[in-house]
Amino acid sequence: MLNSNPYINPHARIQFRAILAATACIVLIPLSARSQNAESFAPPAQIAYAAAPSNRQLADPAIEKRVDALLKQMTLEEKLGQLVQYGDTGDSAIAPLANVVQAPGKNPETHVKIDPMQLAATGRLGSMLNVVGAEHTRAFQQAAVEKSRLHIPLLFGADILHGYRTVYPIPLGLAATFDPDMVAALSHISAQEASTAGVRWFYSPMVDISRDPRWGRTQEGAGEDAYLGAAMARAYIRGYQGEDLSRPDSIAASVKHFAAYGAAEAGREYNTTDMSLSRLQQDYLPPYKAAVQQGAATMMSAFNALNGVPATANSFLLQDVLRKQWGFDGFVVSDFTAVMELRNHGIAQDAATAAQKALLAGVEIDMMSHYYDTELPALIRSGKVPMSVVDEAVRRVLRVKFVLGLFEHPYPTEKEVTAAIPEHRATVRHGAEESLVLLQNHPMNGAALLPLTNSAHTIALIGPLSDDTQEMSGNWGAGGRNPDVVTVKDALEQRAKQNGGTLLYEKGTEITGSSEAGFQAAVDAARKADVVIMALGETTEMSGEAGSRSRLNLPGNQQQLLEAVAATGKPIVLLVFSGRPLVLSWAAQHVSAIMEAWFPGVEAGNAIANVLYGDVVPSGKLPMSFPRDVGQEPLYYNQFPTGRPPLNVDLSKMGEGDARFVSRYIDVPNDALFPFGYGLSYTDFAYSGVSVSRATAPLHEAEQQDAHKLVTATATVKNTGSRAATEVVQCYVRNLGASLEQPVRSLQGFMRVTLQPGESKQVSFDLGFPELSFYDNAGKAVIEPTHYTVWIGGSSLATEHADFDITR
Ligand code: BGC
Repeated sequence: MLNSNPYINPHARIQFRAILAATACIVLIPLSARSQNAESFAPPAQIAYAAAPSNRQLADPAIEKRVDALLKQMTLEEKLGQLVQYGDTGDSAIAPLANVVQAPGKNPETHVKIDPMQLAATGRLGSMLNVVGAEHTRAFQQAAVEKSRLHIPLLFGADILHGYRTVYPIPLGLAATFDPDMVAALSHISAQEASTAGVRWFYSPMVDISRDPRWGRTQEGAGEDAYLGAAMARAYIRGYQGEDLSRPDSIAASVKHFAAYGAAEAGREYNTTDMSLSRLQQDYLPPYKAAVQQGAATMMSAFNALNGVPATANSFLLQDVLRKQWGFDGFVVSDFTAVMELRNHGIAQDAATAAQKALLAGVEIDMMSHYYDTELPALIRSGKVPMSVVDEAVRRVLRVKFVLGLFEHPYPTEKEVTAAIPEHRATVRHGAEESLVLLQNHPMNGAALLPLTNSAHTIALIGPLSDDTQEMSGNWGAGGRNPDVVTVKDALEQRAKQNGGTLLYEKGTEITGSSEAGFQAAVDAARKADVVIMALGETTEMSGEAGSRSRLNLPGNQQQLLEAVAATGKPIVLLVFSGRPLVLSWAAQHVSAIMEAWFPGVEAGNAIANVLYGDVVPSGKLPMSFPRDVGQEPLYYNQFPTGRPPLNVDLSKMGEGDARFVSRYIDVPNDALFPFGYGLSYTDFAYSGVSVSRATAPLHEAEQQDAHKLVTATATVKNTGSRAATEVVQCYVRNLGASLEQPVRSLQGFMRVTLQPGESKQVSFDLGFPELSFYDNAGKAVIEPTHYTVWIGGSSLATEHADFDITR
């Protein structure tokens, strides 16, 4: 078992849920790598920060005074204590720390016994992970605050990514809302709830851009686009941290995983990433940067190597970019045993080198590796790690603790939240409704199948995700309680009662099943029904950490079940529950309606029923492209044009001559089945009059980094259908003629616009340096005298456009 974290390990999670339910408390260079030896290392304090501080509270001189005073009193052992983090192992037999020897490839957690309670009581523990629950956190906090010499409080961090008790959609689903205010509101809800359980630090948001859905952690992020990812990143920080980190219900965010973890080669978990500096800056770093600029208090270093340097020892990322360029003044925590894993990466042959490299690179807290506490004393004695570096690391940790007000309020002040809160359900339901993406809605007898009419229909509900409370909560929903979840079956039964209809339910098969024993009953139910709703998809464990897949199909024999039911000829609404884009090509040809539901949380059933019956008109848009075939991956809308773009070529046919020697596959079209930004409504929207405020703009104006309104692009969007609805209006930009090849288009603005039937609105997007510049291969944002095209529309396929030039 590599990770006993109950939020990760399925067995531990089940146990964890049981304990929660029962007791409400738980255990839960350009790429210029800075020289790793002490002689040439410039301690962070001496680095000339280019930017203003990222968080004004952390930079407050009054806080610094308190940090100074405390630091002066601390022994080396107490200082190092602030830099180590453990979970609650429950071990009372403490191994002599100095004797701990790690074999490369082995996770220390599996064979090291530590006693965190004793460490806390002796000032040798600074923070704990996934210890959640007022009673439990109190026990450890009391040890730290009441027994340790300097009474320094512990900081409790937890993997709370999409709700604590009132669980809401997974982050990929939240990204589909294109609604940062909604995401901020939901994040605030989880901060309020979890802070009552003693947690003041979330290992969230996960802002890794991912363009390859084989990577299971796709579900934890905002998908494939940097602009959307940055908007979502800011929203999470706003929601968690609020305006004031010292409020008892504010949570310090840990932005993860820094950096570019989502570009893991072939979508294989923990795999290498390797890319140009331009791509890194343009496509992967913006969400982390946005979070830092929004004031994120902490960051988590990633597991992966980036261009040969593991992120946890990568001083280019952690010093040059994070601290120097972005002025980050929080602290960095390693990912789980990532310091130890530097040995597996092969850049440290022993524990001491791993600890030295990580700390010197800028990782302040060692999560679970057991290396900082064991290795740093000797490294400091030998001068391989300067004391000033340790002091600076401790300062960064203490600043966050002071700013959070932990010294004044080490324990939760509000009554502990132990179940989903009724008052939070409405917001959570709205979030879930907005996250649903209607992918297909073919007409049946002249009218679109959805929305369903509230008449006395017979509906057959079929599929293993129809009535599964556990799966609705998603991969990081461990704090949720199954009884709090409303399933699709619950909600549709309620509807049937209200409208005098009949609901026939058949599970049909298991999510990963191979038995066809349930098929016949499912087919029989379908035959009796007017409409069939099928709830198919993945288990939550098929995505998330260590959830990479090589196939993107419906698991088990669900595809066969779908085909058997479709053979009845009945109209089918397919609900897809998944932590990633799946290949839905067969379904797209044989099924009337398809809705992507992700993992929606405790209000799953209600949100889905509201949209199916049209009480709510769907507005979600895809944050990731859904491929036609897994072999297209990584597939993303903002590709480069290449030297042989397949223009005017029918890619559905095998090509010859000019139709062959272009950038294409011979067996599948290039494009997505459902592209980024796409999602249907129950109404139609029309776009017209796309224009720009000027046809040319001078370069010297464009180069002003604070030029935000260089050009304004405008369009009229009209609701041409018969339902009031919300449209996510999107603005895409292409830059032609630049010194580096640029994407065919990239998102540079979006807004949600609500329109009554027949109503039109003018929408505008201001474009300036941030939207029009690109990164060169020295990592610098530049703007050149080039030609720009701007599209405004309802997906990445928007066609209405206008053009302008930046001129010398
Ligand atoms: C994951 C992180 C998580 C950490 C603590 C790691 O395995 O990669 O995302 O925050 O564990 O649970």
